[in-house]
Amino acid sequence: MYTVPQIEAARLPGLLRAMPKAELHMHIEGSLEPELIFALAQRNGVALSYADVESLRAAYAFTNLQSFLDIYYAGASVLLTEQDFYDMAMAYLERAVADNVVHTEIFFDPQTHTARGVAMAPVIQGLHKACVDAEKRWGISSQLILNFLRHLSEEEALQTLDEALPYRAYFSGVGLDSSEVGNPPEKFARVFARCKDLGLRRVAHAGEEGPPAYIWGALDLLHAERVDHGVQAVHDAALMQRLKDERIPLTVCPLSNQKLQVFPDLADHNMPQLLAAGLVATVNSDDPAYFGGYINENFVQLFAATGMGSDEAYQLAANSFEASFVPQSRKQAWLGQLQMAFAEAARQS
Ligand code: HPA
Ligand code: ZN
Repeated sequence: MYTVPQIEAARLPGLLRAMPKAELHMHIEGSLEPELIFALAQRNGVALSYADVESLRAAYAFTNLQSFLDIYYAGASVLLTEQDFYDMAMAYLERAVADNVVHTEIFFDPQTHTARGVAMAPVIQGLHKACVDAEKRWGISSQLILNFLRHLSEEEALQTLDEALPYRAYFSGVGLDSSEVGNPPEKFARVFARCKDLGLRRVAHAGEEGPPAYIWGALDLLHAERVDHGVQAVHDAALMQRLKDERIPLTVCPLSNQKLQVFPDLADHNMPQLLAAGLVATVNSDDPAYFGGYINENFVQLFAATGMGSDEAYQLAANSFEASFVPQSRKQAWLGQLQMAFAEAARQS
């Protein structure tokens, strides 16, 4: 049994940044920084309804999920070519490496692009090539997870799946994102059943703004193996017990929850409660260009606000490896690296 070294509070931010970690909930379109949005708009001759980078950034004052999604889809409108998708993903992967992310499972929203007349090929191939090049250059491993937009119909999701199947080798799983309330998981039961038959891994956003019933639905009707967000689970004791017993991970996104007013004050975030209940909760950045920080910023601000310490830091990093879709042997190797990072921090304390 491993005993986590206790690291003094002043050294905790450094440890949070230095420790190896996996990121499992990050929408690649949400990593588009305003500067890159304007550069791509110029390269592609796309008109934006914001005059400059500053006025776009000034519009990032969200009141709920939908107020964010409206701006997020507008930002994605500059993406047209394979090179655009490649450049966007390389920028994220380089940033992730700087945060000591050793593995990432990247969400992408093909329907946001195919609806504008962009073909599936440049989307998936551009992202895939970036994943390959980033691993060669920096050693970070990655997988792609295709997300269906839940505000659209199941027929459109099924069509999107068909369009993506020629590139089946390039994505490991599927997910469900966009406007949650009013678009319950049962709407997508057939497409997720088809994905399961195809051997695709399954995740779903549930319990971000929506009720615990949507988390039950994600598990029972979509056969989700991980729940994205899931923070509303605390309102249902039987659900908490199930998540714990079956070790179903939650990919939690603290700064997203704060910016979208799920927890307007980060000090009120329920991460300490999720961990104390024994859940496999993880920290992730969701849409880092829009919510004020990449994964390390999420860790550092969450810990500063809630007063969590080195036990929780270790647990969250270990959870991120457990929750990832990689073979057990790689998880074990990452745990060894994690314990070395803690030993190094203890030596400096
Ligand atoms: N929730 C739902 N859809 C999304 C999100 C999110 O946090 N980010 C990007 N699409
Ligand atoms: Zn998300």
